[in-house]
Amino acid sequence: MKPKILVAREVFPEVLEHLRRHFEVDDNQADVVLGVEGLKQRLADKAGAMTAVSDPVNAEVIAAAPQLKAVCNFAVGYNNIDLAACTRAGIVATNTPGVLDDTTADLAWALLMATARHIQTSEHWLRAGHWQGFRMLDWLGSDVHHATLGILGMGRIGQALARRALGFDMKVIYHNRSRLPEDKEAACRATWVAKEALLREADFLVLLLPYSAESHHIIGAAELALMKSTAHLINVARGGIVDDVALISALRQRRLSGAALDVFEGEPKLNPGFLELDNVTLTPHIGSSSRPTRMAMAMTAANNLIAALSGQRPPNLVNTDVWK
Ligand code: 8YV
Repeated sequence: MKPKILVAREVFPEVLEHLRRHFEVDDNQADVVLGVEGLKQRLADKAGAMTAVSDPVNAEVIAAAPQLKAVCNFAVGYNNIDLAACTRAGIVATNTPGVLDDTTADLAWALLMATARHIQTSEHWLRAGHWQGFRMLDWLGSDVHHATLGILGMGRIGQALARRALGFDMKVIYHNRSRLPEDKEAACRATWVAKEALLREADFLVLLLPYSAESHHIIGAAELALMKSTAHLINVARGGIVDDVALISALRQRRLSGAALDVFEGEPKLNPGFLELDNVTLTPHIGSSSRPTRMAMAMTAANNLIAALSGQRPPNLVNTDVWK
């Protein structure tokens, strides 16, 4: 008998096919967001689950899934999973690191360029029929070349972003709890600075750190006040790292030149204040969304599940203390 698993969101057919060779699969190709109640129901008889950021695998869900042995997230972030509750229940949790670094760094770069040069707002203006011809003072943007890029959270994606900045002759500074080894700093010509210096000096501040209790509202009113009024903030990490109310207020008062956001507090809802602003670029959490990358993420999650349910240590185990 094959173990039973739930694939909690729609996935590529190839991934389902791969999983069906190993498991009896309960899929969700209709892509209904299951939520706590739906997950409790569908996980009651399952040994494994492939989940996404929209699936809250909390203590209540875990308590309702007595046979669950593995939760394999389709994401590098795993703040939707209560890791401590998993560990207590002997459930392994995994993520998909590595395969999405370049694609997410590409989106961060696209958003940086978009906010610097008013790509999205000027396009909306053009489409609305406002363009009457050349005007010297129209749509004056910020230069990206030779500007200072500040990166908060210097993991693999942060380093991939820093490497992109080399071609634009940018100065790259970063802040991270631990400094990178010298060879890694040299490879992306990035200099570690204290968080306050990062906020004060960056022309473009890109957030690339995981969400946790410690990073909740790590960028709030006080931090925004330290930034240059000409600076831009880019968030491709997680909603909740930025205090959205404080950011809207700073953007409204032009205490910050612009922002570009792929993630929001309480997404998919977003604070309606963002929609009234012409100095913010908004995308719907598409950081890893290229076809090859989403396929690689899904296959990575599937392979973690296959390893975990065949008694092997899954390659991308995150609650390592569960593995005796
Ligand atoms: C995912 C992400 O696409 O990997 C992450 O942490 O934020 C994105 O790449 C998204 O979370 C879907 O699960």
